[in-house]
Amino acid sequence: RPQWRGVIEEYRPLLDLPEGTPAVSLGEGGTPLVHSEWLSGLTGGDVWLKIEGDNPTGSFKDRGMTAAISVAVHEGAKAVVCASTGNTSASMAAYAARAGLTPIVLVPEGKIAAGKMAQAIMHGAEILMVRGNFDDCLRMSRGLADHYPVALVNSVNPVRLEGQKTASFEVVDRLGDAPDYHLLPVGNAGNISAYWLGYKQYAALGRASRKPVMRAFQAEGAAPLVTGKPFPHPETKATAIRIGNPASWKLADAAAAESGGRFAALSDEAILSAQRELARRDGVFVEPASAAGVAGMLSELDAGESYAGATVVITVTGHGLKDTVTALEGVGSLVDTVIDADVEAAAAAAGLG
Ligand code: F0G
Repeated sequence: RPQWRGVIEEYRPLLDLPEGTPAVSLGEGGTPLVHSEWLSGLTGGDVWLKIEGDNPTGSFKDRGMTAAISVAVHEGAKAVVCASTGNTSASMAAYAARAGLTPIVLVPEGKIAAGKMAQAIMHGAEILMVRGNFDDCLRMSRGLADHYPVALVNSVNPVRLEGQKTASFEVVDRLGDAPDYHLLPVGNAGNISAYWLGYKQYAALGRASRKPVMRAFQAEGAAPLVTGKPFPHPETKATAIRIGNPASWKLADAAAAESGGRFAALSDEAILSAQRELARRDGVFVEPASAAGVAGMLSELDAGESYAGATVVITVTGHGLKDTVTALEGVGSLVDTVIDADVEAAAAAAGLG
């Protein structure tokens, strides 16, 4: 069985990329669709988790970044820039390193999870900590790309969405058709827009008989798509989606409206509790923001919504190891049983004896 070649080589004829674009790839995509026994049992439906933390840098961003960096190389760029809440910068830094481009990263000071920052540092990014939030960083990235010789690789670059839409292709290729519902977190709104592009394309090609209802979830402190108004001071422990004025607002609204879907907001407590439950019940450890789709499903069930008999895909967007500090804050003491190096002591302490 040949090795998975990354999303550009696997899906090139379906991607709108300039003729002759090379593939700067780390083998991204081809991520597992794992059946959730827990959520299927709870709903009486068939619930699948698309595990995007299994991408090379630990988030779905790699799908779009292979495309954006490949096109930047094709167009002769020497440097690339992005604003990020952490994952985009980790991904950009890795792919830029591979391509020999200079990565420049703008991040909100003090609001980036340690794992993501470590990635950007290790891949040699020029990291600029901005006294401001993600929305400020994005405005600055656009300004730099407009006035200096540096290519912008945020998802306002349409090539990013071309790469990211491959996640929908994979879901349909695996399930044999589109699901009834697709749930996911939303921040800057590139991902929901990309999924919807992919589902529409597969339906138009006759590779799927339907398109899913898209339901997307934000944190209450950063929920512009729910309230319809920008949040000037977005705040949430799910730092990946701490965004007050999403760049792909219109595309995301269209995805929700055209699919018969909607947006909803969740408390940080609900998101962090879903993160813990998912780790304990399904063995899937995701970062806080990544649990928003699961938290969304749980809160809808509480409100009387039914997914009985439905096929549902929930994208879990990034790996839990990205942000162990926030994860462990909710668990209390860490290692609290210290024993002598002795089998009997271990058995007694572990409740086996
Ligand atoms: N989940 C994770 C783990 C993310 O990192 C992001 C976005 C999202 C969900 C939301 O996706 O922005 O396409 O709606 N992270 C960006 C970043 C903003 O800079 O890494 P979206």
